[in-house]
Amino acid sequence: MFQLHCTVRNCTHLLTLKADGLFCDSGHHFDKPKGGFWNLLQPQDKKSLTPGDSSDAVLARHRWLQRGHADQLIQTLLPWTSDPSIGRAMDLGCGEGTFGPALFGQSETSYCGVDLSKQAVRLAAKRWPDGTWVLANADRFLPAADESVDCVMSLFGRRPATEINRVLKPGGRCIVAVPGTEDLIQLREQVQETGRKRSRWEAIVTELESADLKLQKHQRWQTSVNLDPDAIADALAMTYRAVRNSQHQLAEQLKSMPVTLAADLMLFEKKRR
Ligand SMILES: C[S@@+](CC[C@H](N)C(=O)[O-])C[C@H]1O[C@@H](n2cnc3c(N)ncnc32)[C@H](O)[C@@H]1O
Ligand SMILES: [Zn+2]
Repeated sequence: MFQLHCTVRNCTHLLTLKADGLFCDSGHHFDKPKGGFWNLLQPQDKKSLTPGDSSDAVLARHRWLQRGHADQLIQTLLPWTSDPSIGRAMDLGCGEGTFGPALFGQSETSYCGVDLSKQAVRLAAKRWPDGTWVLANADRFLPAADESVDCVMSLFGRRPATEINRVLKPGGRCIVAVPGTEDLIQLREQVQETGRKRSRWEAIVTELESADLKLQKHQRWQTSVNLDPDAIADALAMTYRAVRNSQHQLAEQLKSMPVTLAADLMLFEKKRR
């Protein structure tokens, strides 16, 4: 199991696994999980500007990934994650848990997925019980000790730069994916007034480099798939929180169509001493 850190405010202890839960040396205790995930969410951390994806969005993403739409992306990322020197990996905004086992399941890496959606970590824990799944707010405190993690991953998820820097070992890596400018462009052109989006990856490089994480590699990933109406509905549900009614109606009229999937992939390294 991944070595977790107590999330009680200002507590400086690691958590130890005992028969009926996780304990720290200050006497804090977290019950043994029912749904297979650890609930380390502190009351003051429940509120967030991004309160985690809704159940609908999580389930839409789950169906989308089950259709295999991320299989090529996984193949592209595998060389970045299959390094025997990665002892511990933490996945921020891990979602419904497709990427964790696909990228770390074949290695000795101790993996921890963190998400703020109960639905997401519940699905993830069911899918891969060997992973350590945690309900927590990644924008607050990451449940790992200082300089204890070899690889932090954020695939379309949260990127708390200072916390990533704190938990990474010197020389540790951080893998980030964000949607590319062309991602779902044909769909967005149909349902939104403006289809094209600003490129996001440069701003992320600036943000993470200001936290001493140096960009090692940037790679564009792009493919084209034919989406049927169910897949179109899922793509919209998992992507746009506030799709307006008028846009829903437009989307419902869409027939099968070829759509571009695109992502910007970045690999950072924390400064070595
Ligand atoms: C677009 S999904 C990506 C999920 C997964 N990485 C994937 O690619 O399938 C973003 C995820 O971030 C989670 N999330 C949002 N805010 C969060 C926070 N503050 N802390 C942890 N997870 C968060 C959401 O619940 C959601 O599962
Ligand atoms: Zn504690």
